[in-house]
Amino acid sequence: MPRKILVTSALPYANGSIHLGHLVEYIQTDIWVRFQKMRGNTCHYVCADDTHGTPIMLRAEKEGITPEQLIARVWQEHYDDFAAFHVAFDNYGSTNSNETKESAQGIYRTLKANGLIEVRSIEQYYDPVKNMFLPDRFIKGECPKCHAKDQYGDNCEVCGAAYAPTDLINPFSAVSGAKPELRNSDHYFFKLSAASCQQFLREWTRSGALQPEAANKMQEWLGAEGENKLTDWDISRDAPYFGFEIPDAPGKYFYVWLDAPVGYMGSFKQLCAKSGIDFDNYWKQGSDAELYHFIGKDILYFHALFWPAMLQHAGFRTPTKLFAHGFLTVNGEKMSKSRGTFITARSYVDHIKNTEYLRYYYAAKLNGTMEDIDLNLEDFVAKVNSDLIGKYINIASRSAGFITKHFAGKLTLRSSQEDRELLNQIHEATAEISASYDARDFSRAIREIMRITDLANQYVDSNKPWVLAKDGTQTTRLHEVCSTSLNVFRLLTLYLKPVLPKLAEQIEDFLNIDPLRWQPSLTVLSEGHEIKPYQHLAARLDPKLIEAMVAANQESLKPMTESHSETRHAEHQQHAITPIAETISIDDFSKIDLRVAHIVNAEHVEGAEKLLKLTLDIGEAQPRTVFAGIKSVYDPEKLKGRMTVMVANLAPRKMKFGLSEGMVLAASGETPGLFILSPDAGAQPGMRIK
Ligand code: MSP
Ligand code: ZN
Repeated sequence: MPRKILVTSALPYANGSIHLGHLVEYIQTDIWVRFQKMRGNTCHYVCADDTHGTPIMLRAEKEGITPEQLIARVWQEHYDDFAAFHVAFDNYGSTNSNETKESAQGIYRTLKANGLIEVRSIEQYYDPVKNMFLPDRFIKGECPKCHAKDQYGDNCEVCGAAYAPTDLINPFSAVSGAKPELRNSDHYFFKLSAASCQQFLREWTRSGALQPEAANKMQEWLGAEGENKLTDWDISRDAPYFGFEIPDAPGKYFYVWLDAPVGYMGSFKQLCAKSGIDFDNYWKQGSDAELYHFIGKDILYFHALFWPAMLQHAGFRTPTKLFAHGFLTVNGEKMSKSRGTFITARSYVDHIKNTEYLRYYYAAKLNGTMEDIDLNLEDFVAKVNSDLIGKYINIASRSAGFITKHFAGKLTLRSSQEDRELLNQIHEATAEISASYDARDFSRAIREIMRITDLANQYVDSNKPWVLAKDGTQTTRLHEVCSTSLNVFRLLTLYLKPVLPKLAEQIEDFLNIDPLRWQPSLTVLSEGHEIKPYQHLAARLDPKLIEAMVAANQESLKPMTESHSETRHAEHQQHAITPIAETISIDDFSKIDLRVAHIVNAEHVEGAEKLLKLTLDIGEAQPRTVFAGIKSVYDPEKLKGRMTVMVANLAPRKMKFGLSEGMVLAASGETPGLFILSPDAGAQPGMRIK
């Protein structure tokens, strides 16, 4: 029975360019969708630009155009970028559409009818010159802790303190420079604190819809049973705002994150109109279709709490699963403008051209977990050249010429025992490859494909068609070997097609065959099947192109795109500030014995859901054992050998799994992620931190 699947990727903000970080998500989703389609499942893939909010409104104003003009231009750029990377949406819409508006308003009305909307007055900074309320990121001033000047309204980039905008000394509006005033305004809240919401979310987040790491994170956010940690969600913003007006609430607009996920529905509605699909069949409560959202780990909160709660209480089905992924690093570090590693999709296309190389590299790295993935530029060149060109393409380039020259382009079905065994081995890998794709463990699929590609190369190496061709008495064997190689090449192309769709198309043309599909039975090309003359399929990747690309991204420091990443979720942070602790004396502080610790060993603990067991050297005769609740975010293998910081004089604690002799420090906030600390290079185990 073919499955009915609806797939989405997160909707990119319409105030910045697509970069290689975004592409981790869109390429990943596209590979999965292509695989499902090749298997004969019904699978629809929709996405859209996320167009609303203050940053977009202000940016348009700065450029002297309307927000509509800005989002139309960015839509085209995004659309072209995705097409260049062969990301094949069935519909690419915009949240600023009638379809999204109707759905958002409909959902709101139902939530309201169900008693889940509440109006409350809140106090907020207001810009009296610009006549607008200011999101935290648009208020600046002096840090209340370290007195650094020109800091944002939510935290200080110099000392790292987090605070409320009202704590800033001499605050000013980053929009007009004016001194902001505190004003009251009515805001609309979605009552997430309602018992029905908490109850539902508790069940839903445990229902298997989330990856284990994400489910753990959710339990943290939800708190223990009966703890009611969720607070109501502020879903309104005051005019002027670029977005949808709230029904029966003049001057009040939906906060961008209210209508953003509804954009999934809006875009799908457009697809339904185009292709005659029944919308309700996919979205009504009780639908038997599967719904998957591919998202980055930074937006888990919105997708695992707000969105399912909205759907559930508005009569829609909830997502079957959320597939969250990690963040892209380049050469092991966060993408950086100064290092030239904040690479836009456009500049990749301009310099490297072949976008399937990146698809291949990402596929080789993606494993379906929330771990970050690293684009190591040297490794990228090496992998493309050795795997794709050196191993895969090489099979065709070493056999096709002989078929054209000696056999008028025609293949033979005749084969030796060895030929048939090779073909069988290649074919037997289908199950493993197909299961890996389905589980989004693309790295496993690629490893398996490369393993059998090695077998194929060994076969060509040992049969040496170029030697057979010189010896006039071996023509029959030459025909068999080259035909077998091309049949193998055809299967490898099938396996790689979700990742390399464009190349696969070129190869289908060269092999003169119908589009490859995932078929369970082993088929080989028929006796006398005629291929076209071999033409160059792909070139080696020249490392000089990478250098040029990095240099180009280093030069193009555009202030507008720079602020983009900082303002992405700025508006959400507005109501998520926890008060900072009270002042302590230096004597209080020095009671804490903080030490540099060397992680000698890190391992999983049998039966522990959250804990890793760490063995820490702090310069004492015996290393210490510490159990740390970091399992959801750290792979123990990657912790081994690292330096970190521990509290060495914490009273030992007896735990179910053993004695914990201290504590390691980690940072966390409202957004997902947990980050242990590391000292600068040179720090030695046991050094005191004060
Ligand atoms: N507009 C919101 C999503 C709304 S969905 C209803 C948004 N937009 S975004 O442009 O900032 O990001 C779009 C997607 O790209 C998100 O899933 C995000 O996690 C992902 N990525 C953005 N930068 C990324 C990396 N550096 N690495 C991996 N994925 C990243 O969030
Ligand atoms: Zn500060």
